[in-house]
Order: sequence, then C-alpha cells, then structure tokens
Amino acid sequence: MRLDKFLAECNQGTRSEVKVLLKSRRVTVNGMTENSGKRQIDEFSDIVCIDGEELRYQSFAYYMLHKPKGVITATEDAVQETVLDLIDKKDCVRGLFPVGRLDKDTTGLLLLTNDGKLAHDLLAPKKHVEKIYEARIEGIVTEAEVELFSKPIELRNGEVTKPSRLVVKNVDEDAGMSEIEITISEGKYHQIKRMFASAGMHVLELKRIKMGSLELDGRLDPGKYRALTQTEIEGLKISD
Ligand code: URA
Repeated sequence: MRLDKFLAECNQGTRSEVKVLLKSRRVTVNGMTENSGKRQIDEFSDIVCIDGEELRYQSFAYYMLHKPKGVITATEDAVQETVLDLIDKKDCVRGLFPVGRLDKDTTGLLLLTNDGKLAHDLLAPKKHVEKIYEARIEGIVTEAEVELFSKPIELRNGEVTKPSRLVVKNVDEDAGMSEIEITISEGKYHQIKRMFASAGMHVLELKRIKMGSLELDGRLDPGKYRALTQTEIEGLKISD
C-alpha cells in the first residue's frame, strides 16, 4: 500500500494534509525518515511512526445505507429491527455504528462506519455539515415559510434553530400538499418535523438525500447498502 494511503487510513488527515505531514519530515518507515507518499509499504509488517509514535493499521469500513421506513437507528434492540440488522454478517466489522440518527419513519441516506473521528467531525455542531432532505408536507408551503426558515426559528419548546434553506418543489393546492427540499446544518431531535410544526404544518414523508458531500446513490433500493468509494471517503474528511 502507498504510504500516503496508509497515513490517511490511519486517520492522519486528508490527502493534502498527509502530504504536508510527509514534507515536515515527521514520518519514519522502519526508522528512516520518509517524505514521499508514493513509497510502498507493507501495512502489516513495516513500522511507520509519526514523531517516534508507532501508527497501528486499522482498516475502517464506510457504508451508505438507504434506510427504509420501520427500522430504528440503533446498533441493537431487543424488539425492533435496527439499521445494523440490514448489514451482512461479513460486513459487520467491530465498532460499526450509524453516524447521526434518522427517525423510524424517515428514509434515505445513513452513513455507517467504525471511524470514530470522521463520525465525530460530521456530527460536531461547529463543523456545520449540511444535510439535505426531501419532504412531503401537509399544508401549502409558501414564500412566507421560505423566508421564515431562512432565519433562526424558535421551536415549540423554546429551542432555536440555525437558518436553513427551504425550496418549494411542488404545491398541490387541491390536495393541500407540498413537496419541498430543505437544507439544515445541525441535527436537533426531530428537527425538521418540529420546524414545520412551529409553522403549523405536518411532515408526511421525510427522506435524507445528502450529508456533507455524500449523496444517496439513486441505484440503492430502500434497505440496501454499499461501501463508499475512496473519493467519497476523502470528500467527507473535514480539516480541523
Ligand atoms: N428531522 C426529523 O424530523 N427527522 C429526521 O429523521 C431527521 C431530521
């Protein structure tokens, strides 16, 4: 394996951060300073150190799941089916967990990984990672709500949200329904349902389609998952 890939997989930063790290001459392979990411190493027998500290190779798993309705976002439950139950035994690596939470009746993109740092970064409020959802709303969503949601709004329990971007996709006046897309950059409990509730409306269907740079693969049916590509993994890594 290339040394730069090894360092990135050991959570030492994005590809460009790893390049800087190598140029700083802090990396050694079997005791010799190495500054080229192209250097081939054996990740199981070569000893790679940063500032004299040995790195232990850990291969991380990253899956995107198209979460179906009726499954809870948890790692285990005595009664209900969880998102982990949808992962084949062979792919269920130790420490795999869902990054963030979708309600039982929410569908769409859910990332599962055992990479604690990546998960922490994606969920950290100060990183403002954007999440995009499509929703079907009972009620007629107008420019008034678009304007309302573009500013902090107070939920019924007094919590205040960050501004969000609401786009009205379709309105069926006769049925009294609207289809919308909404982008939020935080993850309060039942956030979108509570935002619409504060505007006197009800969310009928909710589906997450994007988280940071990661988009739900349209070829994945509900309940199916696939491993992320290397490009998708790199895209999710956030600089400190
Ligand atoms: N907002 C909600 O109300 N529910 C979800 O599952 C995600 C965001």
